[in-house]
Amino acid sequence: MLSEKMLNILNEQVSKEAYASQLYLAMASWADAEGLEGISSWFYAQAEEERVHMLKFIHYINERGGHAIVPLVEQPPKEFTSIKELFDASLEHEQMVTAAINEIVSLALDEKDYTTNNWIQWFVDEQLEEETSVQAIIDKLNILGDHNLYIFDRDIMSMRGQEK
Ligand code: FEO
Repeated sequence: MLSEKMLNILNEQVSKEAYASQLYLAMASWADAEGLEGISSWFYAQAEEERVHMLKFIHYINERGGHAIVPLVEQPPKEFTSIKELFDASLEHEQMVTAAINEIVSLALDEKDYTTNNWIQWFVDEQLEEETSVQAIIDKLNILGDHNLYIFDRDIMSMRGQEK
């Protein structure tokens, strides 16, 4: 059985994962409308992954005797000014999610809820992987510069292939 505090923080995380999914979907749609096929595919796939994260939290909460609440999600930004802005904002968002996951770990340890601590470790690893992959993309963007976007857009899907 989850404590009330744990139930609340896990439900907040459902909401954060749902927002991440919508945010990446908004980025995918913007890139799609701009004709950036590779970048939009990358963000569509990210949006799916975040939805899977949200579902993992929902299933876990319900499995532990809680009630997972499906959240109302704030509208993400519609317009972005550059590719660099997309990835900088993604990294910032992932860092925020990592901090939120760490808060859950911290509460699990405080409460001696070792089941949740054990379960949440998958997300600890996942966050490291996500931050590393977005940082690698930003590094590549910095090397290529703005005038090589065609190459970047073509290469980004194979970068995803290497991560998984
Ligand atoms: Fe589910 Fe990328 O945080």
